[in-house]
Amino acid sequence: VTTLAVLASGSGSNLEAIAKAIENGQLLAKIAVVIYNEPEAYVKQRADKFGIPAILINHRDYKSRAAIDLAIVDILKQYHIDLVIMAGWMRIVTQVLIDAFPERILNIHPSLLPSFKGIHAIEQAFNYGVKITGCTVHILSLEVDSGKILKQAAVPILASDTLVDLQKRIQVQEHIIYPAAIAEYAQSLTK
Ligand code: GAR
Repeated sequence: VTTLAVLASGSGSNLEAIAKAIENGQLLAKIAVVIYNEPEAYVKQRADKFGIPAILINHRDYKSRAAIDLAIVDILKQYHIDLVIMAGWMRIVTQVLIDAFPERILNIHPSLLPSFKGIHAIEQAFNYGVKITGCTVHILSLEVDSGKILKQAAVPILASDTLVDLQKRIQVQEHIIYPAAIAEYAQSLTK
């Protein structure tokens, strides 16, 4: 069984999707710990609901990005983590984290990479007028939203869509492809 850590900053709907896939037996893994950086993030409630320990690493308490990542690596080692799952972790990662878990950190991004990198991906695709966007699971690399792609889902943008409609449609797909990508990647590592 692959031991996962989930890093999140927000609502945690992807955490929930992954936890449910584990409960359903679709994903042979265990989430050992959730790390979150926003004290009020709803992801904490979701972790509690699934009985997963959640540890707050408030980035405001650290003096550099590297110091934050060192604290995170400490926790990841403590919990014997095999795979690190970024699920809406809205912080730039340093070499410290990547070197400690080379090729062992996955991320989900709400666009069809390499289009619309960065933190405003959905809004940018919407405003640009693209007719198809989507979501991407990729291996984390130092350069933001640029690592090797593992899975993507395409999502249409309809003329009647609001930004919120589009956000919801993308998240539906995220919740399908992320657990599936984790399962496949974990499997590939044990071969
Ligand atoms: C997800 O849509 C994810 O793709 C996005 O944050 C959301 C988190 O939702 N990530 C990024 O924008 C990364 N730049 P969640 O907290 O409900 O899982």
